[in-house]
Amino acid sequence: MIPRYGSLCSLRGIFYNEKNRDFETLTEAKHVFFFSSCRGSMMYALKALGIKKGDEVILPAFICNVVPDSLTRFGIKPVFVDVYKDPENIGNICIEKIESKVTKKTKAIIPVHLYGNPYESNKLKKLAKERDLFVIEDAAQALGAEYKGMSVGSLGDVSCFSFGFGKPMSTGGGCVATNNEDIYKKMKDVIADVKKPGFFDDIGFIISLTSRKFLMNKKIYGSTYRIWKEFGRKIESVNEMDFRGGSTLNEKLFRFQIKGFKQVLDTRRSQFKILKDSLSDINDIVLPEERNGVKHSALWFSFYHKSFMGSKRENFLERMRKFGIDIGIIYPFISPAFYNEKNTDYPCADMLSKSIMSLQMGPHLNENDINHISSALRRMLNES
Ligand SMILES: Cc1ncc(COP(=O)(O)O)c(C=O)c1O
Repeated sequence: MIPRYGSLCSLRGIFYNEKNRDFETLTEAKHVFFFSSCRGSMMYALKALGIKKGDEVILPAFICNVVPDSLTRFGIKPVFVDVYKDPENIGNICIEKIESKVTKKTKAIIPVHLYGNPYESNKLKKLAKERDLFVIEDAAQALGAEYKGMSVGSLGDVSCFSFGFGKPMSTGGGCVATNNEDIYKKMKDVIADVKKPGFFDDIGFIISLTSRKFLMNKKIYGSTYRIWKEFGRKIESVNEMDFRGGSTLNEKLFRFQIKGFKQVLDTRRSQFKILKDSLSDINDIVLPEERNGVKHSALWFSFYHKSFMGSKRENFLERMRKFGIDIGIIYPFISPAFYNEKNTDYPCADMLSKSIMSLQMGPHLNENDINHISSALRRMLNES
């Protein structure tokens, strides 16, 4: 398992190959392109779909900020929509509010399976079809989740996954998955079109680290979004990319984690259920509910208390941490504010940003930990 000295940076090219298709089986996606992150994957997907400067893309106001950021790097306008606050759909894009935001410039919708809970795909797909829009699934938190018999990763025109820390698999990296043959070909073209950065590009890249709007608008720097760049390497030729982004270490971790993935998924789901059942009689908290025909990836158990907003929530979290419980906030902000939007018409996103609390499920917790979390929560909620 341990890569021999020096092989950490090598590209052995077996991170992705025809014989090893566990990931494709899990996601029901025919084609997968691995990159160094979900955000890098998303940028390639946008290019492949031909979405460019001046276009608009619709996405939830309550979202990981790297997603709208991936758009604005290309001069694409993020158009935000409020989310649901209902237990079955906490934080997922409010489909009824999308239509009024579609304009002639709109090219795509990026729905997120927030916390691992699949968004209402049938309704969204119907709307996207009627308005001729692409659906780019943000599946970063949802590997293993299912919607009406279909795997997350096969619901959009393209799907983007993250293998960063705190994700269902955390081997490093991310990927674009698609079942669409045209998009598959376009992805290959976009990858083949990546230029080796020249002297001025390098200078521009350095400047862009401090001045984000500079230069990154038009080109994709393949090297910036490939895993090996993190080890200081640059692309020398297109062949070298050849869809094989992982280092030996990433590859080993990937193979290991995908093998045990179903078991980890079952563990998380069972923890999720135990926690939910044990808290379901407490008034005023809104717990995540699984809808009929939908299977949550159970990555995050995110809930809120109807009257714990702002500092009251902070205080609650502080006290939970004193019990040794690692509890966080995903997300403590809404994204429009970062894009100088004056519009504040996102009441549910706003409410969630002030009240949501998130616990990560996974094999780092055992049965005692779950019982401890449950009794600490119960005690504190009863005391409050
Ligand atoms: C929903 C969501 N989308 C996108 C991302 C970005 O993933 P990456 O860090 O791999 O770019 C994250 C990561 O936190 C996420 O949670």
